[in-house]
Amino acid sequence: MESILTILSREAGRAFEKAGLDAAFGKVTLSNRPDLCEYQCNGAMAAAKTYHRAPLAMAEEAVAALGESPVFADVQAVRPGFINLKVNGEFLADYLNRMQADEKLSVETVEKPKTIMIDYGGPNVAKPLHVGHLRSAVIGESIKRLGRFMGHTMIGDVHLGDWGLQMGLIITELKARQPELVYFKEGYEGDYPAEAPFTIGELEEIYPAASARSKEDPAYKEQAMEATHLLQQGHRGYNALWNHIMTVSVNDLKKNYEKLEVTFDLWKKESDAQPYIPEMVEYLKREGYARLDQGALVVDVREESDTKEIPPCMILKSDGASLYNTTDLATIMDRMKLYHPDEIIYVVDKRQSLYFTQVFRCAKKTHLVDEDTKLTFLGFGTMNGKDGKPFKTREGGVMRLEVLLNDIAEEMYKKIVDNRSIREEDAHKTARMVALSAIKYGDLSNQAAKDYVFDTERFTSFEGDTGPYILYTIVRIKSILSRFKENGGSTEAGQILEPLKDSEKALMLDLGGFNAAVQTAFEEKAPHRLCAYIYELANAFNHFYHETKILGEVDAGRRQSYIRLLVLARDVLETGIGLLGFSAPEKM
Ligand code: ARG
Repeated sequence: MESILTILSREAGRAFEKAGLDAAFGKVTLSNRPDLCEYQCNGAMAAAKTYHRAPLAMAEEAVAALGESPVFADVQAVRPGFINLKVNGEFLADYLNRMQADEKLSVETVEKPKTIMIDYGGPNVAKPLHVGHLRSAVIGESIKRLGRFMGHTMIGDVHLGDWGLQMGLIITELKARQPELVYFKEGYEGDYPAEAPFTIGELEEIYPAASARSKEDPAYKEQAMEATHLLQQGHRGYNALWNHIMTVSVNDLKKNYEKLEVTFDLWKKESDAQPYIPEMVEYLKREGYARLDQGALVVDVREESDTKEIPPCMILKSDGASLYNTTDLATIMDRMKLYHPDEIIYVVDKRQSLYFTQVFRCAKKTHLVDEDTKLTFLGFGTMNGKDGKPFKTREGGVMRLEVLLNDIAEEMYKKIVDNRSIREEDAHKTARMVALSAIKYGDLSNQAAKDYVFDTERFTSFEGDTGPYILYTIVRIKSILSRFKENGGSTEAGQILEPLKDSEKALMLDLGGFNAAVQTAFEEKAPHRLCAYIYELANAFNHFYHETKILGEVDAGRRQSYIRLLVLARDVLETGIGLLGFSAPEKM
């Protein structure tokens, strides 16, 4: 269904055309001055350059040419050449009624759906999922859902880090602790045990221990590098261990992501790209893209217009070992071969920005991707604690994601139980839902590229720009609707009527903006834009609610109109938070 802005722009464009101006100047946007108007058109300002005429005169001519309009209620040309617009209440009501009947609440499916791969999550196997992994998962999940809602084919890939030094470190530490394990027996040719020789808890203790030791003990580090190399060369025992590490760790990761309501279509990993590396290296050499630099194989990615130094992309180290770059380029080959995406979006810490510039340039230059394949880096900032430093536990350690989720759920549980009488079991379930909204909304409402402070107190508050406030608003609407139904009312009957009050019209205008909000959030890959929309809508609803007796309205038609408005508000809010990646309970 067309957005309100599209309809209004067409109407204004017609007026511009009648006045002898290009219709494109009739573009209507949301108002910057809600105190003066609901929408505005700045076209006459832009037209001044084309026609070399005073903008105000052109704005006035367009307004005169518009005449009576079925969509506008009030149209005014103002200095220095803006057109302030208010829409007709009947038109607005009609739009909302059609919106309610529309399967996607007015959001249009894109004309040319694309295949878009989204690389997010990116945890490293055997390391516990900690708060540093939160942002990629939360932002990526929302963008995937937005794209899907717009009609694109979105393929989410977790891209596990499973091939680096951490594997060699774990193997080395295991060998030091349990040298008798069969995986370390030279020349062993039999089968290896089906059970892993460690639990997830042990594994998560082993890795940090090994990592710490490697920093102090060069010989130990050497050993870990050797083990990594042997693993990559196909050492039987090490590969059997790698398999155990994968099984134990991936099961745990899946459980954690499930709690976050983050799901991936693909659970691919760095090692899946390894088979592509020999042919890729061969190709880069053959086509003359790569050159040797002190024994290492590199591809130059400098460009004329660079203002800062962009170092070459390293493909192989001088000892022939592959690197993070190598894996990412080979992964691109894998993706092109299997899915041929129009775009690949990487949701990764912004500190990897230069790295991705190198990888993208290399992939383009060497034609690993097509001319028009879009490679997008969506870099996010750091989640800090109140002290402005990366978020830590009270003891200063790395905060596990699971612990954060539990802590916030605990916080929400206390608030919920304090407030009202609710069944114990329901309270726990509800607390988890509200906690997820606090964490996800707290993150997504910030512009992704910026660092932000994870402020538990603020994020868990039922007031202000928070997830719990949005859920609270939805639950409020639901409870009015269920009271209405308990008294024999039907929430399906009737129509939204033209608004009589300002707060009613304001709510209706916000509802009508859903299409544009979703579209903008996806196009700009900016979930914070959707958050801002949802927050404004929740405020508009609460304002309307405080000024209006809904169930007590005596005029039956008007009461039914309010009910229909509530139904639409509930649906838009619930669909909106669904796109952000969380949901609302029935009660709280
Ligand atoms: N595992 C990586 C890290 O922890 C993130 C992976 C991002 N995706 C990618 N294709 N490189 O930094």
